[in-house]
Amino acid sequence: MSSGIDSREWYKSAVFYQIWVRSFADGNNDGIGDLYGVYDKLEYIKSLGATAIWFNPLYPSPNADYGYDISDYCNIHPDFGDLEQFKKVLDKAHELGMKVIMDLVINHTSDEHPWFIESKKGKDNPYSDYYLWRDEPNNWDSLFEGEAWEYVPERGQYYLHLFAKKQPDLNMDNPKVREEVKKILRFWLDMGVDGFREDVINFISKKEGLPNGIGFLPVIGSMMHYKDGPHIHEYLKEFRDVCDEYGAVQIGEGPMTTARSALKYLSGDTKSMDMMFSFDHMMADCLFTEYMHRPFKLIKLKKALSKWQDKLNDKAWNSLYMENHDHPRVVSRYGSRKFHRESGCAIAAAYLFLKGTPFIYQGQEIGMTNIKLRSIDHYVDISSKNNYNKYNLKKDEDFRLKRIHISSRDSARTPMQWDDGKNAGFSDVKPWFYVNSNYKEINVKKQEGEDDSILNFYRECIKLRQSNETLIFGDYYEYEKANPYVYMYTRTYGNEAFIVICSFARESIPFILPKAFRGVRTRLMVTNYPDKRNKGEILTLPHSGLMLYPYEALVVRAKART
Ligand code: NOJ
Repeated sequence: MSSGIDSREWYKSAVFYQIWVRSFADGNNDGIGDLYGVYDKLEYIKSLGATAIWFNPLYPSPNADYGYDISDYCNIHPDFGDLEQFKKVLDKAHELGMKVIMDLVINHTSDEHPWFIESKKGKDNPYSDYYLWRDEPNNWDSLFEGEAWEYVPERGQYYLHLFAKKQPDLNMDNPKVREEVKKILRFWLDMGVDGFREDVINFISKKEGLPNGIGFLPVIGSMMHYKDGPHIHEYLKEFRDVCDEYGAVQIGEGPMTTARSALKYLSGDTKSMDMMFSFDHMMADCLFTEYMHRPFKLIKLKKALSKWQDKLNDKAWNSLYMENHDHPRVVSRYGSRKFHRESGCAIAAAYLFLKGTPFIYQGQEIGMTNIKLRSIDHYVDISSKNNYNKYNLKKDEDFRLKRIHISSRDSARTPMQWDDGKNAGFSDVKPWFYVNSNYKEINVKKQEGEDDSILNFYRECIKLRQSNETLIFGDYYEYEKANPYVYMYTRTYGNEAFIVICSFARESIPFILPKAFRGVRTRLMVTNYPDKRNKGEILTLPHSGLMLYPYEALVVRAKART
């Protein structure tokens, strides 16, 4: 056990790598990624410059929502290995200097969890109040599967499920449930994990009486009764106290969290988290791409990123991400197929130098792209299927399928593309899910061998970031906010400044620098056009402006004259 609250500050200079294990690497050749595969890839993760790993749920689960429906919190899914293998991975990660955090899913369990199996038997058993039961449902809609209530004849009541039917919501108002959560925290902390990413954590306290939602968008209308609910900060304080004993990091996932409400979790008397994930910048096209797809707009992306940078500045710490297991691939969203390498790098540079802790999702570092499957029957994600069956019903099959191509979470969950061999090097046998057919062009092995690959660009950016305090603690300032093609910001600390310039244009464009930068002598630190620009050379920023190549990313360093 580590001592003292401040010991968790390591997260500020960390770079996280996120593993959705089922699709990462298959070590025992059954077609499913597992902890044996992870064990063998730890050096690779380390080679990126990552200093921490976040595991999506590894626990036993019937997989209605691929691990987010847990049936045993203190064990490992047999598909992934066992506790002994997990411990081996944990110890080796620690030896390599990487921390490990687990996913904590306490808003709901699986309906196959023993607590629920008992609870549904009747009103007077020790688990009867572990879940939210009602004689009559309210009008809430679930986020995944129609109405949020399901009737259980055995008990003669309905239970609440904000997500799938197989994910009944826990009753966090029951002190016994909170004690169970603390036991789970201790179980993993005693084993040596370094913290938790906490799933839909802003949903765990529901308004007394579970009143009807209002407004004509049922999901949003009901959310006001459970998002940032009445006792959220009290309950989280109890869990924080446990984590404090171990100096464990807590990172909250709160759907629809605004920077303002995130600050409540991150600072002051109600501080319970070290970081919160923002959702705002995922709306640079549209978060709900499945039914309201809109083209990517750089201005929206910049605005959201700057908002969180500015609002949290000096009050709290940002988490930075472009991809995770819940969103389609970012090169397919914010980048370009034609300029795959260039745009993959520009997206990396745009966020890796912001103030906060970067998270890299498996495959993002090689620019993996969305998969297009021929029929909805080939998709496995519950939310994709639900969206297909629920939205755009009046449109034809082709249209609806196209939306799924753009929006499905399954695109982030295809097997990792390690090489151009059989099954992309993920497994010797047929993988559990489709491999993206572009694996021969986009894979780790190929990019290892190319100096200017997206993979090596990630390594370079991370190395620069990790070796420089300005890029970790320096102030953030955005320039040229209204420019629809270029994202420009600085990070400054003492007499040093880094200037980040990323073009999101598909052709070369002139970029006139703000006055203050014209004629400034800088050193070129990062470029995704190494054949056109010389890394390390002195670059005096021209008065006449820079000609930026398509999706060009430049990071230059300037020192103030003393
Ligand atoms: C957020 C998780 O990231 C997502 O994958 C999951 O489906 C929901 N929470 C429900 O647990």
